Amino acid sequence: MMGWCCSGICRALALLALLFPSRERGCWGLNPSSGDLEKSPHSDPDPWEALHRHKRSWVWNQFFVLEEYTGNEPLYVGKLHSDVDKGDGKVKYVLTGEGSSSIFTIDENTGDIHATKRLDREAQSYYTLAAQAVDRITNIPVEPRSEFVVKVQDINDNEPKFLDGPYLAGVPEMSPLGTMVVQVAATDADDPTYGNSARVIYSIVHGQPYFSVEPKTGVIRTALPNMDRETRDQYVLVIQAKDMVGQMGGLSGTTSVTVTLTDVNDNPPHFTHKNYQYTVLESLPVQSVVARIKAADADIGSNAEMDYRLMDGDGPGMFNITTDENTQDGVVILLKPLDFETKSSYSLRIEATNRNIDSDFLSSGPFSDTTSVKVTVEDVNEPPVFSTPLSKMVVSEDAKSGTSIGRVSAHDPDNSNNGIRYSIDRNTDLERFFNVDALSGVISTAKPLDREANMVHNLTILAIESQDPVQIGKGIALITVLDINDNAPVFAIDYETLLCENARTGQVIQTISAVDRDEPLSGHRFYFALAAPVAGNPNFTLRDNKDNTASILTKRSGFRRREQPVYRLPVLIVDSGSPTLSSTNTLSVRVCDCDSDGVALSCGAVAYTATGLSTGALVAILGCIITLLG
Ligand SMILES: *[C@@H]1O[C@H](CO)[C@@H](O)[C@H](O)[C@H]1NC(C)=O
Ligand SMILES: *[C@@H]1O[C@H](CO)[C@@H](O)[C@H](O)[C@H]1NC(C)=O
Ligand SMILES: *[C@@H]1O[C@H](CO)[C@@H](O)[C@H](O)[C@H]1NC(C)=O
Repeated sequence: MMGWCCSGICRALALLALLFPSRERGCWGLNPSSGDLEKSPHSDPDPWEALHRHKRSWVWNQFFVLEEYTGNEPLYVGKLHSDVDKGDGKVKYVLTGEGSSSIFTIDENTGDIHATKRLDREAQSYYTLAAQAVDRITNIPVEPRSEFVVKVQDINDNEPKFLDGPYLAGVPEMSPLGTMVVQVAATDADDPTYGNSARVIYSIVHGQPYFSVEPKTGVIRTALPNMDRETRDQYVLVIQAKDMVGQMGGLSGTTSVTVTLTDVNDNPPHFTHKNYQYTVLESLPVQSVVARIKAADADIGSNAEMDYRLMDGDGPGMFNITTDENTQDGVVILLKPLDFETKSSYSLRIEATNRNIDSDFLSSGPFSDTTSVKVTVEDVNEPPVFSTPLSKMVVSEDAKSGTSIGRVSAHDPDNSNNGIRYSIDRNTDLERFFNVDALSGVISTAKPLDREANMVHNLTILAIESQDPVQIGKGIALITVLDINDNAPVFAIDYETLLCENARTGQVIQTISAVDRDEPLSGHRFYFALAAPVAGNPNFTLRDNKDNTASILTKRSGFRRREQPVYRLPVLIVDSGSPTLSSTNTLSVRVCDCDSDGVALSCGAVAYTATGLSTGALVAILGCIITLLG
């Protein structure tokens, strides 16, 4: 039988010797060297305590070796012994398995096992080896192969580490004492199941008296009530984790925890001034900014958002106030035009209120503040203003030069009330049809007008301050020229009237109409007649259709172009104006040779075709005669 001895197991050996006092258990009877006992780091005085702490079941064939041994000599692990070995050198001990050649050595004579290298439990916590006792000469095993384990015993060689650090955390300002901020955690690579090497205790190195840490859990809590962000908004804590339950000699690691106090709305808005003064020009355009005021608020973000309100003021509807969302300023806007001459200053009361109020802090006072804003209006020299910006006037087309048409009127809105001179912007009256009296503003005609050329005149009238001629007001005079009957009606077009030789008596050969450039209000009404010299002629007659057209009819048949190729009919057209105007227009009627459908084949004079030869043929014949003569 092979027996095992080791240093690490000795205290267990002592115990087991008590429980099972069997002499057969290999080297138990063989006393482990007293030196081994002294080397053990676990010289725990009470073996019972050791048993209770290590609930694992004991494995007999295992050795214990301390990690991180730093001595110069190989570290004694234990002794292997076979009963067959009588100490006469016939038995040889052989080691195989994990690290059997690189780490562990066995004295082939004595069975002493040593570790030749430093071991690290955190890298490898046990080695499985096999041992055999063989006959030195024959190499035949004298015992069956037997496995055993070398366990690497932990020492506290790893400090706790905060793997998630450094930490960032936030807690609302004004939190009650003991409010949890964040939980930190350190890990220790040492054996958590053995000893205290991995048992960590937390403490706060930096950050008192504001914060505390729970020693066992690493929970960080506020340690002061009502910490004020507006006083200080950030704390950098240093938290330490120490193993060996925080006792002397333990290893420690630290981390930082940056705690930011988050804002709560615990500060009301506050106007830094009780009065604000602003001066604006009366010419300030509507929708312009009149004033920008700011209610200060020590809070930030949504807790500093502001609503402004015009509480009252002596210019209702003149101003409005809105919030500039970027700056939370109150922006006073002009809603209606200012007029220095009417009102030269305004007093407004403005209230600023926090938009988001935290009910926990209502006792900190009303979350609003008021202030006064005085707006002073400054006079601006304004140009003259027309009493009516657009004056409509009418004038008869036949008005004589110098006829007064109407009057424009402008005044200086300034208190100085300067005198005004009127003139016409000549670009709007290039042909100078009109004049304006510089002092009275009376507009009159300067020359005859023609409605048919210009029905409406759009004049720009300038009103210029006599004392300050750069101050110019503008008004418009829209002058409509009223029609008079000064145009006679005429044929609407140049008619070309053809009359077939085969036309019958009473046939309509032309329908005529008329135009007149005048535009009587009730519309045109034209009267048609053949002019007096031909009124009763035997050839043609005219029928007034009473719809501003007239028809020309034949009065006989048998017209012959050889007899008379063209007839000229003077037609009288009279309008309905007062007085009436008329004109005589000549209608030419050409007599034509027509086919049976009344389509004209040839019209008017017949002179050349009388020979039956065309002019071209005649020229050709003439040419032949000349050639023959030559
Ligand atoms: C005044 O300003 C507020 C906020 O911008 C707006 O809702 C309101 O319509 C404005 N009032 C007038 C009369 O412009
Ligand atoms: C008259 O002229 C002004 C510009 O000179 C123009 O704005 C206005 O529309 C005009 N009025 C008419 C009826 O043509
Ligand atoms: C009517 O016709 C005849 C014959 O062609 C002519 O002599 C006479 O002058 C015509 N009268 C008028 C008014 O055209």
